[in-house]
Amino acid sequence: MQKNPLPLIILTGKGAEELAVEALKAGVDDYMIKDPGQHYLTLLPEVVMGVLGKHADRQARKQAEEALQKADDELERRVEERTASLAMATEQLKKELSERMRTEAALRLSEERFRSVAQTAGDAIITVNSWGEIVFWNQAAEKIFGHSAKEAVGLGLTAMMPDRFIQAHKEGLRRVVSSDDFRILGKTIEMVGLRKDKTEFPVELSLAKWVTREGVFVTGIVRDITDRKQAEQEIRHLSRQLIRVSEEEKKRLARDLHDEFGQALTALHFGMEAMAKSLPDQLQGHKRKCDELMQLVQTLGDNIRRVATELRPDMLDDLGLVSTMKWYIDDFGKRIGDVRLDFEATGIKKRPGPEIEIVIYRVLQETLNNIAKHARASRVNIVLAYSHPKLILTIKDNGIGFGPKGATRPMQGNKGIGLLGIRERVESVGGHCEIRSNKGKGTMIRVELPLNLEPQ
Ligand SMILES: Nc1ncnc2c1ncn2[C@@H]1O[C@H](COP(=O)(O)OP(=O)(O)OP(=O)(O)O)[C@@H](O)[C@H]1O
Ligand SMILES: [Mg+2]
Repeated sequence: MQKNPLPLIILTGKGAEELAVEALKAGVDDYMIKDPGQHYLTLLPEVVMGVLGKHADRQARKQAEEALQKADDELERRVEERTASLAMATEQLKKELSERMRTEAALRLSEERFRSVAQTAGDAIITVNSWGEIVFWNQAAEKIFGHSAKEAVGLGLTAMMPDRFIQAHKEGLRRVVSSDDFRILGKTIEMVGLRKDKTEFPVELSLAKWVTREGVFVTGIVRDITDRKQAEQEIRHLSRQLIRVSEEEKKRLARDLHDEFGQALTALHFGMEAMAKSLPDQLQGHKRKCDELMQLVQTLGDNIRRVATELRPDMLDDLGLVSTMKWYIDDFGKRIGDVRLDFEATGIKKRPGPEIEIVIYRVLQETLNNIAKHARASRVNIVLAYSHPKLILTIKDNGIGFGPKGATRPMQGNKGIGLLGIRERVESVGGHCEIRSNKGKGTMIRVELPLNLEPQ
């Protein structure tokens, strides 16, 4: 018999004990036989109540059992899920671990390589941590600075530089550590180092920054450039001497041209004039010839004067730099035609000295010649200014320019030596020259010369 969800009581008139047992076995809740005295009627309500109560209990138990089963199933599902994800996580962890071990091995290898390369390098290689404490110091650093690695590691990098650089170094290091300071990183800068014996020496420094789990580190490659600086100084001294000699030579040549040729031509002119006057009137043809020759002598005289002035204007010695520049710019303007030339001189109270004056004059000469030859400019701006302790000459044109944007040198293959000569002259007196040009947008030359030249 199918399990009946509703309670079932059998009330029968023809009952028998075996039937009752059968029915109860089959799931009937109670079995009553109608007795002839009808006592069953008094018993019936109690039996119904009892059966109903039992039925309710049964239902509740069933529900509880079902809920328990569900919870059990849910738990099992979750446990299965969790076990699966745990297995995955373990697998992942294992993978990461072996990856990390591989990375660490590679790191160790590269660190060993770095150390062996760094140890044999000819330049000092120094690593500092984020607060500037030396953590690596190679053999070249020992040789260059005089401190052994044992002495240097743990010291602040400030021990390796003169006091006057310490503040700037601290600020620079802070900037490099906290950001990618592109002003320094990857570039080469010149600085001054301090040896163990407290002597100073010029160095060239390039920096690299690296970030590890242990923090930020900065590695510097330091090159002792004492020899190079000395050689540069010697070259500068030599080229200064050469320029001096060539200027002297030009001066002598200009004087000779003026004095010898100039005077001879003047004498020739006067002589021819006297000769023309003394010729009888009937020799008109000869007189005309004399006039033509006198004209030729005049032109020759003018040309000689111009060449002598180009070589070395007397004016520079007599009237000084600013007046000579004014005259030269004026004269140049007349020769070149359709170009507006503006010249301004500010703050120049004293004469800068003959060596500086001739450098400025030569830079002006070459720059204006370049403008005439190459620039096709309609405007040129020239400013000479004294800004203590420097004399600054800036010449800008609005011509065709050269090279790509911001070019500082003309295209390769250029055979000219004018711009090179400018640099040479300027650097020979300890000055600095900046040339900037934009194709189609003009050229600017800025020259800075120190006015406190030590006597040579
Ligand atoms: N103001 C300018 N505008 C445009 N291009 C210029 C200017 N100045 C120089 N250049 C370019 O730079 C090149 C180099 O100039 P530089 O004075 O060195 O040589 P150069 O004038 O050609 O020859 P040199 O000066 O030896 O007689 C020039 O050939 C020209 O192409
Ligand atoms: Mg030139």
